[in-house]
Amino acid sequence: MKTILVIGIGTGNPDHLTIEAVKALNAADTLFIPLKGEEKAGLAEVRREICRQHVTRADSRQVEFSLPKRQAEGRAYVAGVDDWHAAIAATYEALFAREIPEGGTGGLLVWGDPMLYDSTIRILNRVAARGNVAFKMRVIPGITSVQTLCAAHGIPLNLVGKPVEITTGRRLKETFPQRSESAVVMLDGEQAFMAIDDPDARIYWGAYLGTADEIVIAGRLAEVRDEILVTRQAARARHGWIMDIYLLQKGEDFDDRA
Ligand SMILES: C[S@@+](CC[C@H](N)C(=O)[O-])C[C@H]1O[C@@H](n2cnc3c(N)ncnc32)[C@H](O)[C@@H]1O
Repeated sequence: MKTILVIGIGTGNPDHLTIEAVKALNAADTLFIPLKGEEKAGLAEVRREICRQHVTRADSRQVEFSLPKRQAEGRAYVAGVDDWHAAIAATYEALFAREIPEGGTGGLLVWGDPMLYDSTIRILNRVAARGNVAFKMRVIPGITSVQTLCAAHGIPLNLVGKPVEITTGRRLKETFPQRSESAVVMLDGEQAFMAIDDPDARIYWGAYLGTADEIVIAGRLAEVRDEILVTRQAARARHGWIMDIYLLQKGEDFDDRA
């Protein structure tokens, strides 16, 4: 039986790795580094740097591979993602068959933590269901961008005793402020915070968190949203890509005390 280690690597800082993750990197005979196109070459470089800093076994192999791209054009969102996952599953299946011998161990370096807005685990379940390559999977947790955001701003995620919703830019309007007074927004390609019109809303925003290029801005949403928009546009143009996340919040600790 082959083993696949799904290793959370944090959000860009090689110091984010847990000791368990470092042990897993060294337990794998082969580490797989995904390439996501030119503009995100920096993300592959972070993974290579993590291997340079943490892999100590001399016979460790690294295999770089191209991840299929999602075809968004003319497709409903869910159907597009489903097809994309099927294509990635086929890629993994071929890689595991070719690169991992029977009884061997492969490692996938997953950004942040594998349970948060990442489909590696569900795609591996698809590979297993196809029945062509037998393997067991083990997941090693990592530091998420939610944690890195809160640490960068020096804030707790939740107000005392209150819930937090984690959502995407596409769905933010369903949530904040009517359903949840604290909403973490990820995968926001449309700057959904610009459409929130609430005088009490605060925003804690961060981009490239954990990396040398980290940028953070916080304040009353109405006062800082234009600054975030301009800063984001300039950073995206400079780097060719951006990853950003933010917490929208209103209310205070203990303001619901009876
Ligand atoms: C596909 S999800 C992966 C999330 C990851 N599994 C995690 O645990 O954070 C990518 C989204 O995570 C957020 N993200 C990940 N890394 C980030 C970083 N270094 N700085 C800011 N946001 C980040 C952004 O919202 C980005 O659009």
